[in-house]
Amino acid sequence: MSFPGTGTIWMNGKLVEWKDATIHIGSHVIHYGSGVFEGARCYATPKGSAVFRLDEHMVRLVNSAKIYRMEYPLDLAGWRQAVLGTIRANQMKACYIRPLIYRGYHTLGVNPLHNPVDAAIMLWEWGAYLGAEALEQGVDVKVATWSRMAPNTLPAMAKSTANYANSQLIKMEALADGYAEGIALDVYGNVSEGSGQNIFLVRDGVIYTPPLSASVLGGITRDSIVTLSRDLGYQVIEQNVPRELLYISDEVFFTGTAAEVTPIRSIDKIKIGEGKRGPVTAALQSAFFAVVNGDVPDTHGWLTYVYAEEASLREPARAGAAKG
Ligand SMILES: Cc1ncc(COP(=O)(O)O)c(C=O)c1O
Repeated sequence: MSFPGTGTIWMNGKLVEWKDATIHIGSHVIHYGSGVFEGARCYATPKGSAVFRLDEHMVRLVNSAKIYRMEYPLDLAGWRQAVLGTIRANQMKACYIRPLIYRGYHTLGVNPLHNPVDAAIMLWEWGAYLGAEALEQGVDVKVATWSRMAPNTLPAMAKSTANYANSQLIKMEALADGYAEGIALDVYGNVSEGSGQNIFLVRDGVIYTPPLSASVLGGITRDSIVTLSRDLGYQVIEQNVPRELLYISDEVFFTGTAAEVTPIRSIDKIKIGEGKRGPVTAALQSAFFAVVNGDVPDTHGWLTYVYAEEASLREPARAGAAKG
């Protein structure tokens, strides 16, 4: 899906027309992957447009920047207001939100410290990342031949643009081999995550997910699903997951801002459970969409409402979600 190419983009505090939101080819980020970013979603709820877990996304953004020694003169409250202000300026009802902090234009060399630290916030409408039917039918995936980054190489907990070079290798290989997505192992051969999603397994009614030490991004959807699982009475265990446990699980699913909660129906052409969305995945999907769509009380305080007044806003392309 290509960009509509309309609206405004927040760049260093100014709203710039979409077509004018450009940077110089000599910018450090282009050459050396020196950027960190976020992906959040604003949902259209009956009580108005609401960003799901805005604070947690902004905390992760600021922490990613901290790991890379990037200082940008906005605190959490400032980021929060910048995101909400950009949504309001674009009159979006539902959208995907992409804040980015990056090393800009000054000089080139591996040392990034002479370059300015710049920032931007883009918004666009993004429907179901792996396709609308994937949410119901599930997806066919493969275990990637590429591993996730080894510990102490590229930090997996920082959502840096550089990490997505690895993600692209995983994704392209999966697509070339006819799968929707890849599951990467960590360098020890344990299950890590998808190219842009965390992963969960269900076996004998217990839910498992790899720990942060397995080179995963600390997903905000992952955290939400852990919480909702416990709310529903499931036991959730964070533990190393051997590859073969994937094949003999009753259910496997991805989570992410983009992928939301997507069932996996086969891995390496081995049918998972019944080969379709399983009951635990379905229950968690329902619980997740009920919260993000504002259909149940927001008991965890996860929604930040965007507008006081919602008349005459741009209609989202898809009811429920606008992207991971
Ligand atoms: C590599 C990777 N893992 C996991 C996730 C899921 O994280 P979240 O739920 O915060 O979107 C993402 C998406 O941002 C990702 O890119």
